[in-house]
Amino acid sequence: MSEPWKSSLSEFFSQRARAGSDGSFANLCYVSGRDPRLWSDSQIYEDLISDIFQQAGLSPAALLLEVGCASGFLAIGLSPKVSRYVGVDLSRDALRAATRLRLANADFKHADGENLPFGDSVFDSAFSYDVFTNFPDFALGAGIIREMLRVVRPGGRVFIGSIPDAAKREEYEKRIVAVAAELDARYGPPPPGPEPKPASPLDRIRNFLRPVNPAIVCYYFNRNDFLQLGEKLGVSVELTDIHPLNPYLGYRFNAIYTKNAK
Ligand SMILES: C[S@@+](CC[C@H](N)C(=O)[O-])C[C@H]1O[C@@H](n2cnc3c(N)ncnc32)[C@H](O)[C@@H]1O
Repeated sequence: MSEPWKSSLSEFFSQRARAGSDGSFANLCYVSGRDPRLWSDSQIYEDLISDIFQQAGLSPAALLLEVGCASGFLAIGLSPKVSRYVGVDLSRDALRAATRLRLANADFKHADGENLPFGDSVFDSAFSYDVFTNFPDFALGAGIIREMLRVVRPGGRVFIGSIPDAAKREEYEKRIVAVAAELDARYGPPPPGPEPKPASPLDRIRNFLRPVNPAIVCYYFNRNDFLQLGEKLGVSVELTDIHPLNPYLGYRFNAIYTKNAK
């Protein structure tokens, strides 16, 4: 992992996973960078899960790959609905927390979406949700989409979910403030994150040898780039809305690529 932004990103999620990995829903939200006041609402969570199921073209027989699974927030809802779920992530600490959930038909593996350790055409469908927002430019995302298309079977879908829309940036930033105020009014202030755990002796040595600043940035994307990539790759692509109960509906979008049937 040579790029500094990627090490900072991975360390951000790793630090969260080390601090809060008791497997509670609130902690899973915390590791995924989600507000638990919003995502603990079971109606909103179910809306998200059933929307991914439908938009990723899943069925109970599907072998499903998630790129950027963090500590299993979506695996909990999706793995019981498919025949097998595989989640990959850059953060080993987040994956450890995911493995501790002991989900019946889920496997978690350390991997970079740019270089997936799977053969061609092995999955029925692959998705990545709330992950592209971390990528400093579209080219990185494009490389991951190509790689995801490689590992899905002909006719299978690659579903990229919840991409911040560059055309809506200003309104979106206002919406974030309004949603936070609505949540404060309804539930009170956000719960404090868990106490950070002291670094292990191994981490202390690692940090001394290769200091990394844990950080994430929200990047925005142009809808056209996703359409043009589909054209370039010669695969069909459709841009869709995020799930109906998401308070950011209209400010983020999804891209669905379908690998050509043979
Ligand atoms: C905001 S979290 C989203 C987690 C989960 N998909 C969800 O919706 O709750 C983003 C996750 O993507 C992972 N990630 C970012 N870039 C990645 C890459 N190139 N390959 C694999 N995982 C990546 C991060 O480590 C982090 O765990």
